[in-house]
Amino acid sequence: MRVLSAMQPSGQLHLGNYFGSMKPNLELSEKADESLFFIVDLHALTTIHDPKLLRQMMSDAIRDYLAVGFDPEKTVIFLQSQVPAHTELAWILSTVTPMGLLERAVSYKEKVEKGISATAGLFTYPVLMAADILLYNADKVPVGKDQKQHVEMTRDIAIKFNNAFGETLTVPEPVIQEVVAVVPGIDGQKMSKSYGNAIPLFGDEKQTQKIIMSIVTDSKDKDDPKDPKTCVIYQIHKLFLDASAAKALAEEYKDGLPYGEAKKRLFQTYMDYFAPMRATRAALKDKDVESVLREGAAKATGIAEGTMERVRKAVGLR
Ligand code: ADP
Ligand code: TRP
Repeated sequence: MRVLSAMQPSGQLHLGNYFGSMKPNLELSEKADESLFFIVDLHALTTIHDPKLLRQMMSDAIRDYLAVGFDPEKTVIFLQSQVPAHTELAWILSTVTPMGLLERAVSYKEKVEKGISATAGLFTYPVLMAADILLYNADKVPVGKDQKQHVEMTRDIAIKFNNAFGETLTVPEPVIQEVVAVVPGIDGQKMSKSYGNAIPLFGDEKQTQKIIMSIVTDSKDKDDPKDPKTCVIYQIHKLFLDASAAKALAEEYKDGLPYGEAKKRLFQTYMDYFAPMRATRAALKDKDVESVLREGAAKATGIAEGTMERVRKAVGLR
């Protein structure tokens, strides 16, 4: 089984990214016969037009992923733009992709509503993503709920291609971890870097404590029974726990655990859990990631070229 995951460089990582994407990706990668992970810098160009910022975000993102446990000995780690076959395959796929399919993409509409320029690149974003996945014959693609539609579009595009040119591309499956489908932010909405409600992974310790202490709650009194189902502190805390510990904690909420105390405990759990990763990230601060990327790109190119030979032959290119 080959598992593939990819991510946009996204600035400061938060718990939503970690529990919704990085952790399940890591776990799946560990179970896979083979795993690939890359940062999609070409996709990032749909929103970032600042070369210095893009370069900084790329190296930071690679360091972040190394710090949370992605291991270049086990996972092929590289940047999308290092393997030009991504764009070549994207073009070929665009010739079998119906306009209607792209017009139905929710994320395009959402991005345009948020004020991102409606460029051709943004519109065809899902085709490049399909190329990312199909190039490596990935069986499983772990993604957050928001990316499910993109993987379904990838499946549609692969099927269209295979119908037109014969069985060439592997039709992938999205893997969504339902339990942590959406991690709430400190205001109870989906945690997102753009909503100012995120708890960072590698932020300043004091600042992070302040953020956790400011999680919104209802106005129940200190000793009143609390409802873990609707309590944001609990919803975040349980991400760190196994089922039985989560159940025990829920009982404490029902028995009236005060919110202030609950937040302190969450902060302690957060620190215990992330301390090793935070230390690794600090040690990687100025590490040169070039050699990791060079090796990863060479391996990725080997796989990608195998697919491209089949694709070029199937469509009649040399
Ligand atoms: P943001 O919303 O902060 O901009 P991104 O869109 O960069 O986050 O998300 C990158 C990855 O992290 C995606 O795979 C996404 O599904 C996952 N992710 C982000 N926020 C959350 C969340 N609140 N809950 C679960 N997964 C999330
Ligand atoms: N669109 C994904 C996101 O915003 C990033 C991405 C690009 C991706 N290509 C991919 C994810 C291929 C998985 C597989 O998070």
